[in-house]
Amino acid sequence: MIKKLTEKIKEKPNIGWGIFIAVMAGVFLLGILAASITERVAEKGALLYNKKVEIKDIESRNEIWGENYPREFKTWKKTADMNFRSKHMGNTVEDALASRPKMVVLWAGYLFAQDYMAPRGHMYAIEDMRATLRTGSPDENTKDIQTASCWVCKTPDVPRMMHETGIEAFYKTPWSAMGDQMVNPIGCADCHDPKTMNLIITRPALVEAFERQGKNIGKATLQEMRSLVCAQCHVEYYFKGDGKYITFPWDGGTTVEDMEKYYDNANFKDWTHALSRAPMIKAQHPDYELFLLGPHAQRGLSCADCHMPYTSEGGIKYSNHQLMSPLKNITNTCQVCHRDSEENLRNYVYQYQDKAIEIRNRVETELAKAHIMAKTAWDKGASEAEMASVLKLLRQAGWRWDFAVASHGASFHAPVETQRILAHALDRTMQAQLELQKILFSRGVKDVAMPDISTKEKAQAYIGLDMKTIRDKKAKWMKNVMPQWIKTAKEKERLLSKQ
Ligand code: HEC
Ligand code: HEC
Ligand code: HEC
Ligand code: HEC
Repeated sequence: MIKKLTEKIKEKPNIGWGIFIAVMAGVFLLGILAASITERVAEKGALLYNKKVEIKDIESRNEIWGENYPREFKTWKKTADMNFRSKHMGNTVEDALASRPKMVVLWAGYLFAQDYMAPRGHMYAIEDMRATLRTGSPDENTKDIQTASCWVCKTPDVPRMMHETGIEAFYKTPWSAMGDQMVNPIGCADCHDPKTMNLIITRPALVEAFERQGKNIGKATLQEMRSLVCAQCHVEYYFKGDGKYITFPWDGGTTVEDMEKYYDNANFKDWTHALSRAPMIKAQHPDYELFLLGPHAQRGLSCADCHMPYTSEGGIKYSNHQLMSPLKNITNTCQVCHRDSEENLRNYVYQYQDKAIEIRNRVETELAKAHIMAKTAWDKGASEAEMASVLKLLRQAGWRWDFAVASHGASFHAPVETQRILAHALDRTMQAQLELQKILFSRGVKDVAMPDISTKEKAQAYIGLDMKTIRDKKAKWMKNVMPQWIKTAKEKERLLSKQ
């Protein structure tokens, strides 16, 4: 080979020069790469060298970290902003049940039918958790309806307290018993080791899910970690057993079918549907799992590439910690890689979303109808045996619909997979309707009259919720109990910010 090449160079001396230039170019590029790596390492060195305070243990107060890392802290604080709306999302308050009242029927018998808000910035995680009707109004006379497991994706006070109580004991504690401990919104200690500032995993459920799959999360690359820190929370999980042990159903894989199989094998249901009596599974927010199946993950991108873009300020490059819609700043996100206009890039996102929403709306209409038809069938004396396959189809349809929709970014993150799942949701829904039609026909019912569920209030009244009582109780609780938590937390210096 070498001999042949030297002979060739003798024949055509241009090749020799070509090789020389190519090698020089390669060396030059390697030099640049090495320089940029040293630069990153030097930047990080400088960052750690310039620390003002020494952070020990698990420090959940973000303000303390802010003294060392003012740029990251300043952008992190901006997750409190409420000034952006894209076509379908944004960082403002949105009552999702008011926008899509059919969801009240889809979740009948479950707390989500009472209250479900679209997500907003990380800064509101604690506030929104306290305020939701889904956490109830626990006090001396009223029992908790949730355990401390609910706090797990809301605050860096979770790893701090888990360290004190142990993991199992933490999950079992009643929700309200941790009220004056869980006070700092999602922050630095959730994702960083204070000594090295390396990315770390602080939530046991993710580490355990990797272990059960025979993988070691400690071996993840930096680029993987730039997604895995998000996968501590933006994933599908459930509360396992009486101890409410947070578990990711990933043992057999992370597709919608893999996880359904896991739940079926465990004979698990989140609740029994109040109208159809189907044993339902609530999907949480499998952003990470769906993202993995999309074009960007398959090209090696991670969440931080779009949601935490590098920003330059006075010659210093840092990661923007204002986690939100990348459409707020397309120049710093999409356009880093795509030579395309802002308008085109925005429209790609909207196109994917609009198409998914087209099918989603069909599923929501028909699935709500199917649950109502099932209720009519029970009312007309249908038997368990007759209804068995209908209930199974309703469980499968509900799981697929929720899986595709509850992970809010999925229609862009993984457009084809999202459409596939929604198509199966619609298919299961229509199969259920066909079977129900037969059962109803055999009992002389030709048509099921649809109730008026055109607003959230009407839908909630239809499924029998007394919202006024529930809401009044919560309002009283917000006035009397909640402020005590904040007061105690401030006295004990667990909380430094105003509020
Ligand atoms: C949800 C996870 C998450 C939270 C919360 C978070 N960070 Fe980060 N942080 C990251 C990621 C991801 C990077 C990029 C790491 C990389 O690419 O090397 C990063 C990078 C950094 C860096 C390295 C320099 C840079 O900007 O790239 C510093 C310093 C930092 N964060 C400080 C903070 C501080 C201070 C807070 C709290 C106010 C915080 N972070 C909260 C995920 C997080
Ligand atoms: C400790 C749990 C946790 C971690 C870690 C976490 N998130 Fe979140 N995230 C949440 C919660 C909870 C909300 C909803 C907060 C609310 O509505 O009050 C949220 C909301 C969001 C939103 C919506 C913001 C808006 O303006 O509407 C985005 C985008 C987001 N997260 C992306 C990420 C990314 C990317 C990462 C990783 C770099 C990440 N999150 C890490 C829990 C977490
Ligand atoms: C290629 C860029 C890109 C990557 C990578 C990416 N996202 Fe997104 N994400 C988007 C876009 C675009 C939207 C839609 C924003 C809109 O419509 O305003 C979005 C939406 C979201 C939302 C919903 C925000 C809201 O306001 O409700 C969440 C949560 C989210 N992404 C989390 C993640 C997580 C977690 C990862 C990694 C597992 C990730 N994203 C990776 C571009 C990206
Ligand atoms: C870090 C680089 C990077 C960023 C940031 C990024 N992309 Fe991409 N994007 C890619 C790569 C690589 C591909 C695959 C290109 C290919 O195979 O031709 C891709 C593919 C796409 C595609 C085609 C998807 C398909 O079905 O094949 C669209 C649309 C797109 N990106 C839009 C966006 C938008 C909108 C944003 C910002 C929210 C964004 N991208 C951010 C690197 C990036």
